Amino acid sequence: MNHFELRDGGLYCEGVSLVRLAEAVGTPAYVYSTATLQRHYAVFSGALKSHASLGSPLVAYAVKANSNLSVLRTLAALGAGADTVSEGEIRRAIAAGIPPDRIVFSGVGKTAAELAYAIETGVAHINVESEPELDLLAAIAAAHGARPSVVIRVNPDVGAGGHVKISTGKSESKFGVSLAEAERLYAKAATQPSLRAVGVACHIGSQIVDLTPLESAFGLMRALVGRLRASGLSVERLDLGGGLGVPYFNQPDPPPPEAFAAMAARAVGGLDVQLTFEPGRVIAANAGVLLARVLHVNARPDGRRFLVLDAAMNDLVRPAMYDAYHDIRPVAPRDGEPQTYDVVGPVCETGDTFTRERLLPPLAAGDLVAFMSAGAYGAVMSSEYNTRPLVPEVLVNGEAFAVVRPRPTYDEILAREPLAPWLVSPKS
Ligand code: LLP
Repeated sequence: MNHFELRDGGLYCEGVSLVRLAEAVGTPAYVYSTATLQRHYAVFSGALKSHASLGSPLVAYAVKANSNLSVLRTLAALGAGADTVSEGEIRRAIAAGIPPDRIVFSGVGKTAAELAYAIETGVAHINVESEPELDLLAAIAAAHGARPSVVIRVNPDVGAGGHVKISTGKSESKFGVSLAEAERLYAKAATQPSLRAVGVACHIGSQIVDLTPLESAFGLMRALVGRLRASGLSVERLDLGGGLGVPYFNQPDPPPPEAFAAMAARAVGGLDVQLTFEPGRVIAANAGVLLARVLHVNARPDGRRFLVLDAAMNDLVRPAMYDAYHDIRPVAPRDGEPQTYDVVGPVCETGDTFTRERLLPPLAAGDLVAFMSAGAYGAVMSSEYNTRPLVPEVLVNGEAFAVVRPRPTYDEILAREPLAPWLVSPKS
């Protein structure tokens, strides 16, 4: 469920008309609903909490999905933790008010500086993905006189996810270590005086619409915890990653959080560990839309009709990158026979195509459209390709809205790039 609905002849986000918002902020722009963010967080964490056998899990929102500070602050106020993959994301989480002991630091390639920062900050645990990283972390921790909590990320060799580029759990992907290797590394971590080996982690993919692979992976993790304990090691934490999919309208509906939680309870309930979940998409995707305006309708003699928008692949790259499907809705309902459109942006490459041959109500220059389910992996992946100003972000809360990342001016964009001194003409 989300809070974007047709009302009074137009699409609204909560109590704010998207027509009015487009006039005030301009397009393209991302628009997020506070109520939807809050609802999704409450439903996800509530589903987990309804199973006593899962204990009190840490719900560490995956910051990468939507890292806007106001989004993070909205979730922080509900008690969310954060799953982070860079120093920048840790800094965002802290700036948004998420306590360090609810922040998890993951990622395949953390730099020495980032590891040192995470240690100094006192994050909940650092998810280590390889032996060289374990050795580096042990050395940095020793130099700091610290003893950070370490979790070993396992690659359970279970594939899942909506696209090959976002499937992370197969053995050939770059993430984590094998189950066998995890046992060796965990034992090694447990002997390091500068580390506290506290647990194991996995994350097998994103946009997962079938719980079966997740249940297999969780079962393998449960067995791993059993083996580690049987060998005399203590295991206090189990991080099960994110990955639950959302409806994008062209896919089977993913299982609801309640079914996910019931599966987790079956797979790892009563294990006597502190569980961590890292949901990103399921919290943010349907809490946001990308608002765009039609620049032209370019009808070719061969019958092909291009709907040219003022939004482009630099603003929402998912269709170009993953062939992702986003529902496109006219902001004001249009009467008349639906037409088939190729929906494109102004960027100078054919990849800047959001969709081909999509049946939409008849649209004209000046009309507004909304790309639905764009709140996750939308603005965070945007760029200024073609020197198109970074797309702004707007947060709605009831009748109120605020620009929470302004569109930069052209002067601001150019001022970020000082000319090399030898290129500056000497003052006469
Ligand atoms: N935890 C880890 C370790 C992850 O790598 C990810 C996502 C998550 C949690 C959150 O997964 P989620 O609940 O959002 O599925 N840019 C792609 C998605 C990349 C996902 C990367 N990892 C897209 O637009 O579909």
